[in-house]
Amino acid sequence: MDRDIRIRAVGRQQRDLLIEMYERFEPLGAALGLPPRGKEPRREWIEVALSQEMNLGAWSPAGAAVGHCFLVADQEASAELAVFVRQEFRRRGVATALVKTMLERGCTSGLRRIWALTGSENHASLRLLDRCGFRPISAGSCGAEEFELHLPGA
Ligand SMILES: CC(C)(COP(=O)(O)OP(=O)(O)OC[C@H]1O[C@@H](n2cnc3c(N)ncnc32)[C@H](O)[C@@H]1OP(=O)(O)O)[C@@H](O)C(=O)NCCC(=O)NCCS
Repeated sequence: MDRDIRIRAVGRQQRDLLIEMYERFEPLGAALGLPPRGKEPRREWIEVALSQEMNLGAWSPAGAAVGHCFLVADQEASAELAVFVRQEFRRRGVATALVKTMLERGCTSGLRRIWALTGSENHASLRLLDRCGFRPISAGSCGAEEFELHLPGA
């Protein structure tokens, strides 16, 4: 990843910067409907993301959000992963850095399983998950596939 991109926790103070990132995000809706295409549903989705305990951002030297990764807790010690990188910053290792940092933090916070749902045609996401150690567990409905990774200690 570019050395000038920084991975840092994201909180409500950075909400407007995240909104700005997703306003410019392309293509909207391509990752199983995410990020939502409509402005209001998108803002609500960002609020839900920020209400989760685990949020990370990738930041440009100018302070713009160029990537966002968060975990949505479901069952005990288990959470769903979501990751988004602004189109101009793709294929530079930003998502890999976000996911690997998130896995370390998830492990430290006691998570034992992280899973992700992605479209079976989403080659970038499939490659990313594979490179980060996720393995397929099922083909879901409507061309979606589920992947999981067990963290040490399970
Ligand atoms: C998926 C996504 C997060 C990847 O972000 P990124 O920063 O470009 O990913 P990285 O640069 O870390 O690349 C990770 C791996 O995927 C590969 N990759 C990235 N884009 C690719 C593409 N379009 N086609 C094939 N492989 C691709 C990279 O080469 C790399 O593999 P390598 O280490 O073997 O070279 C980004 O494309 C995105 O935001 N997509 C829309 C949202 C989405 O689909 N999110 C995932 C589901 S929640």
